[in-house]
Amino acid sequence: MPDLPSHPSNPTNSTPTSSSSTNTPATMTPPPPKRQKRDEYRKHAAEAASAKPDGETTAIAHVKLPKKKFYRQRAHANPFSDHQLNYPVTPAHMDWASHFPAFVNPDPAQTNLIGTRKLLKDVEVVDIGCGFGGLLVGLAGLLPETLMVGMEIRVSVLDYLTTRIQALRTQQQQKAQSQSQSQPASSTSTPAPTTDADADADTPSEAAPAIPDPTANTALVPGGYQNITAIRSNTMKFFPNFFKKQQLSKIFICFPDPHFKARKHKARIISETLNAEYAYALRPGGLLYTITDVEEYHHWILRHFRDESTVEDEANGAGTVKELFERVSEEELEKDDCVKVMMEATEEGKKVTRNKGNKYVAVFRRKQDPEWA
Ligand SMILES: C[S@@+](CC[C@H](N)C(=O)[O-])C[C@H]1O[C@@H](n2cnc3c(N)ncnc32)[C@H](O)[C@@H]1O
Repeated sequence: MPDLPSHPSNPTNSTPTSSSSTNTPATMTPPPPKRQKRDEYRKHAAEAASAKPDGETTAIAHVKLPKKKFYRQRAHANPFSDHQLNYPVTPAHMDWASHFPAFVNPDPAQTNLIGTRKLLKDVEVVDIGCGFGGLLVGLAGLLPETLMVGMEIRVSVLDYLTTRIQALRTQQQQKAQSQSQSQPASSTSTPAPTTDADADADTPSEAAPAIPDPTANTALVPGGYQNITAIRSNTMKFFPNFFKKQQLSKIFICFPDPHFKARKHKARIISETLNAEYAYALRPGGLLYTITDVEEYHHWILRHFRDESTVEDEANGAGTVKELFERVSEEELEKDDCVKVMMEATEEGKKVTRNKGNKYVAVFRRKQDPEWA
């Protein structure tokens, strides 16, 4: 039997993007046992993650985080294939309310172009190719009032992250409820021992992170993870469908797929065309963060944005999208906690740390539009 989360089924408030299914029509060959086991696990994990505290907290078993081993998928999805993806016709058609129920505008008249409720504020941080969500989970408590979305093309990975976020929200609600029942005056930051129940058994032990591991079930996290969500999308094709002009304050691109061969470079998530889309969605002063462990890709990134230290780029950038960006100094990055999260909390970042690899960071600030714009 799979190691299922020990929570009774309670499929209320299920998250909108979950895609796994165990339904097999009678006429079809049943799936092989491994897949069946995986699908069963995912179904139970999603249901358990959505359990609502109901005033009988003591009767509710502790909600566990999903295990990655049941959500594995081959490393690369082809961004040029036709995936079955849902995307809004324009940003004004996007249903954000189902992703951020805690931030829905209480005025029922405040609806968007498809009739779903508007939020009290816009999403303003995006993690492109978010993978298993380490960055989002790490940033959630750091920026509790900022709405953040991860975009991920791989369906199983997105499934994992959706369940993970839902489980974290539920854990936080349960924790808040039990704390208010037992110790009304307790602080939101009181650390409690980490429980094994929350450890992802699939993750090898990691070097001690410079920042606390937010998935360790130690305390109430500011915002209770209500400010993060994930969406399945191919950002190479649909990024502008989700975000209006100057909506975003931060874009993260962490450990993008390197696509080493020259003939595959067109699949890279950083290019002149895509950077123009990022520039459109970023507000002046907004930041685009990048990190990679591939030195050649780091130089590709520097070449595709404006690196003020490179005289050659100064000349090449004139009149192009490069003119819309300037590189942020090392001194500024040292003070930026988001950089620490990017280096230590992403799953790829942890892997690179374990393998003692290098991490190359470059952050670019969106400048004001120049005269020609
Ligand atoms: C190497 S992983 C990095 C994951 C995560 N950012 C991290 O640092 O742990 C790159 C991720 O980008 C996703 N990805 C690649 N191309 C994408 C695209 N066009 N749209 C959305 N996600 C994409 C991949 O599926 C993969 O999960």
